[in-house]
Amino acid sequence: MIILGIESSCDETAAAIVKDGKKILSSVVASSAELHIKSGGIIPEAAARKQIESIIPVIKESLAEANLKPADLDAIAVTEGPGLIGSLLVGVEAAKTLSFVWKKPIIPVNHLWGHIYAAWIDNTPNLPAVVLIVSGGHSDIFLMKAETDIKWIGGTRDDAAGEAFDKTARLLNLPYPGGPSISKEAESFKDAKLTKYPRPLIDSTDFDFSFSGLKTSVMRNLDKENIGKEAAEVQEAIVDVLVEKTKRAVGKFNPKSVIVSGGVAANKRLREKLEKDIKNVDLFIPEIKYCTDNAAMIATAAYYLKKETPWQEVSANPQLTLV
Ligand code: KG4
Ligand code: ZN
Repeated sequence: MIILGIESSCDETAAAIVKDGKKILSSVVASSAELHIKSGGIIPEAAARKQIESIIPVIKESLAEANLKPADLDAIAVTEGPGLIGSLLVGVEAAKTLSFVWKKPIIPVNHLWGHIYAAWIDNTPNLPAVVLIVSGGHSDIFLMKAETDIKWIGGTRDDAAGEAFDKTARLLNLPYPGGPSISKEAESFKDAKLTKYPRPLIDSTDFDFSFSGLKTSVMRNLDKENIGKEAAEVQEAIVDVLVEKTKRAVGKFNPKSVIVSGGVAANKRLREKLEKDIKNVDLFIPEIKYCTDNAAMIATAAYYLKKETPWQEVSANPQLTLV
């Protein structure tokens, strides 16, 4: 089954063609991140306008890269939500139009299923799995029992982990997106003792996170002369909490696998610590290019979710939840 995936939930415009949920025939990502550098965060209106400019060229390129024609496709998968409404609409309306014109079924995909199924691109994790999704909009822990059966067990009470990186990066005067810039700055301090900032809720027995206090603490205690060290301190505080809660979920639910995905899962320090600390269970973290927003994960998820829907019934839903 050959699926064209389309992803446009935030500031990436992406299209990919995936065969049988495994073989990536093409994956094209255009980002409007540069547009948002000056403002230090995403401007939804600007992101949506950029989506409109990029969507057709990106879809065309995904077909060309895969050396396929529309007639070769079996279905079109598209992110229906959650995300920014203006951005989502561009991908959803493009997918509906193509579905009508090319006479191909459409498979709407929740963006979070996409992040989860990114782990299926190179592997087949055994279930049940503890899943940590950490991105710009989400920090959630789920227990995935079967291919379409998932239970939420905890999540952030305020800012998402990616948001914490992005907001503290602004305080440190580092460019958007904050995750990669903090990670780069932190590089030379990886062996330092890093305990300056609080690890919110690290000792609570639930699976919740709270990152907004970190921002306040950085604002109050920032050492402007040592931005590299500050970046390392921030990163370590976020990573410590994420790793600890994941370890605790493994202890409680005794899963066969742990899946960590979403933009923040691209973080090198997080990957290192998880690999060191998650023991006696298989750990799956997608390749970096499939952790951040992309359309290969959407086409892959569509293959497993198998939810073909008439185009008339597909619509963008910015508040869509997974469970
Ligand atoms: O999954 P994603 O691409 O988009 C959303 O669905 O939100 O995640 C974007 C988030 C941003 O907050 C960005 O700062 C963060 O992922 N991010 C990282 C890294 N790369 C991206 N955070 C920490 N370290 C990274 N290397
Ligand atoms: Zn995402």
